[in-house]
Parts: sequence; structure tokens; C-alpha cells
Amino acid sequence: MPGFELFGDKERKELNDVLDNGVLMRYGFDSMRKGHWKAKALEAELQTTFQSKHVQLVSSGTAAVSVALASAGVGAGDEVIMPTFTFVASFEAIMMLGAIPILVDINDTLTLDPKAVEAAITPKTKAVMVVQMCGSMANMDALSQICDKHNLIFVEDACQAIGGTYKGKPLGSIADIGCFSFDFVKTITCGEGGAVVTNNKDYYINADHYSDHGHDHIGNDRGAETHPFLGYNFRISELHAAVGLAQVRRLPEFIAIQKKNYTIIRDALSQIPEVTFRKVPDGGEESYAFLNFFLPDIEIARKVLAAFKENGVDVCWNYYDNNWHYIRKWDHLKDLKSLFPITKEVKEGLKYLQTKTFDQSNSYIARNISCLIKLSWTEDEVRNRAKKMVKCIKYVMD
Ligand SMILES: Cc1ncc(COP(=O)(O)O)c(C=O)c1O
Repeated sequence: MPGFELFGDKERKELNDVLDNGVLMRYGFDSMRKGHWKAKALEAELQTTFQSKHVQLVSSGTAAVSVALASAGVGAGDEVIMPTFTFVASFEAIMMLGAIPILVDINDTLTLDPKAVEAAITPKTKAVMVVQMCGSMANMDALSQICDKHNLIFVEDACQAIGGTYKGKPLGSIADIGCFSFDFVKTITCGEGGAVVTNNKDYYINADHYSDHGHDHIGNDRGAETHPFLGYNFRISELHAAVGLAQVRRLPEFIAIQKKNYTIIRDALSQIPEVTFRKVPDGGEESYAFLNFFLPDIEIARKVLAAFKENGVDVCWNYYDNNWHYIRKWDHLKDLKSLFPITKEVKEGLKYLQTKTFDQSNSYIARNISCLIKLSWTEDEVRNRAKKMVKCIKYVMD
């Protein structure tokens, strides 16, 4: 991660196909296309990648989450349970529909704690949205069982987890509906883009129409198509889809590189008794996009990060001190700062954020260090980096 590190001829070829025929829009203009339908081709490719019946491409991962929730009927006043640790987009996507994000604690998987989920269910709960952060996952069996028991829609924000699997199934394809991002810093990137993935035909048809103003996409005359319900424009362009198509065909190559680099660093850090690693649930295999490890406490984690910085070890973060990925610094959301008025129901529903503390989440996030695994490193670079990391941690621990 990220896929742009290895952009090359394959991406250029797909992109040039689109520029040669000049059709940048994914729908219509059949006679001009010379047979090139990049968004459709990418959807077909992703169906295979995700072993899923339906894929709807959209304009971003944030759009994917909103479209997925809307397609499953989540809307005004519905509560959606989600984790405290995620990118802020998961929260925004729920708010966009007038629904209420209910944040609950994570556990040592760095994703939803099933016990916290069960405790947060109310008569207003409509969905549980797991976020497969940093390429790994929650205990999906436990969460599925809770959703089945309480008749809740199970949504998977797998925006950061392409290539990971749980019990042989691709992450993002396990819940009722899943979401991916292909933004610039993801393992598979097309600049901006996203996908909704599902085996549920109704959800898929809803996603297809909703992401294009409600167009039913029947026939080949856009102006004559009917509009069964309200929709918006979350379309992907052919230019973006073309790059995504070349990239997704390279996914196995990218995952293999990530795994190799991750393993070298993890093996080196494993020699330090004070370092422990994020739990991957039984049957899970990470995408190896990040290596997440815990140190004994936040002071040590901060000192280690400072030592990394001084020694040129880049792309490592502590999310406790980060503005975008953890509830602690989301004051604009706690204070409901919005350009437009927010409904009374949502204001009321979010009051808990003023007072609720997330001690369990803090206890994991504060002492966690998350390191991006790059695709472009040479083996020597990875080994050097691993050595430096060990040295920095030992120096701080002594
Ligand atoms: C967990 C998660 N959800 C949603 C998104 C939103 O994706 P995008 O940037 O494509 O809108 C991201 C992006 O980083 C993410 O990490």
C-alpha cells in the first residue's frame, strides 16, 4: 500500500483506451466507445476478486458507505453502531443520510468489540457497521450472530482492507453489504473511487440506481430511462475505472509484496518482549497493508515514534494523537459543527458524545503504533528499517 507506488504501463494502457475514444462517462455513448466499458469491466473483475454476485462502483469510499447504507434502507433517525477507531468518513457517511452514528469500543483486534456492540443495541438500531481497519478485521462470526439475533443489517466498511480474508472469504464480502475505497492512498488506487459489494440483488439494484440520480439503466437511451426513486450522483468516471482495472489485476502481486515486507518487520519486532501485536481473529488473514503493534503505555509509544522520526523511519503513526482516525480529536463532530441545520433527532441522538468516555478503546489506541507497509521498498530497505525500529524501541525501553 499504496498502489500508486507501482503505476506503470498497464495503468497507462487502460487509461489511453479511454482517452482514445474520448468517452469519460461510464453510461451511454455506446457507438463512440469502440467496445471500451472500463467501469463495467472493473465491476466484473471485482465480482471475481470479492467472490460476490454484485459490485457497484461509485465515486469514493465515503460514497460507497452512504450508498450501501441507503441501499439497505438506513435513513433518518436510524442508529448505526460503528467503532471509535476508523477514518472520519464512516461517521460522515451515516450523518449524510440523517442517521445516527453510535460509537462503541474496539478491542485488541482494533475493530468492533462484539460485547460493546451487543450492549449498544436499542429499538432504534438498524445496522452494525464494522470497519476493517488497517487491513485486518473483527471477529466476523460473533458480529454476524449478533446481527442475526437482533435482525440488524450488517455492513462492512472494508475501505482499508482489500486483499484480507476471514475463513477464506474476502473482507468486504462477508456482511450483508460491503464498501471499498480506491482513493489515492489505498492498496488498489484509481485516484478517487469506491465500490459497494453485495450478494443481495435488491441492495445492488438500489445502489445502481441511487448512485446515478435514480436512473433505472434499462435500455440505451438515458433520457428515456425511468426513475423509480430519489438518487444522487456518486458515479465513477471511465478514467478512474480504467486505472482501477489495471490495478486490481495486480492485487495478488501487491499483497505478496506487502506480506513479504510485513513479515520481515514483524519478525524483527517479535524479538522484543514488550512488543505485542494486534489480534487477528481465528481464520483471519490480514492484507498486510499495515503492521500494528502495542507498546506498554502511551509515553513509551510517543517516545518510540519520536525516535523513529529522528532516525528516518517514516509512515508510522499513533492514532490517539491523530485528528482524523479516532474519536478523541473529533471535536467538530462532538460539537455538531455543521454548515446546515441538523435535525433534532440527530442532535438528540448524538448527545452521548459530550460525556461518553471510551476507556477500553483508549487503552488500545494510546499504546498502538501503526506502520504502513510500502510496495516500493527494496528488501535491503525493509531489513534496514526493521533494524532501526528494533534499535529505537530498545533504546526507549532501556
Ligand atoms: C475506513 C475508511 N472508510 C471510508 C473511507 C473513505 O474513503 P474515500 O477516501 O475513498 O472517500 C476511508 C478512507 O481512507 C477509510 O479509511
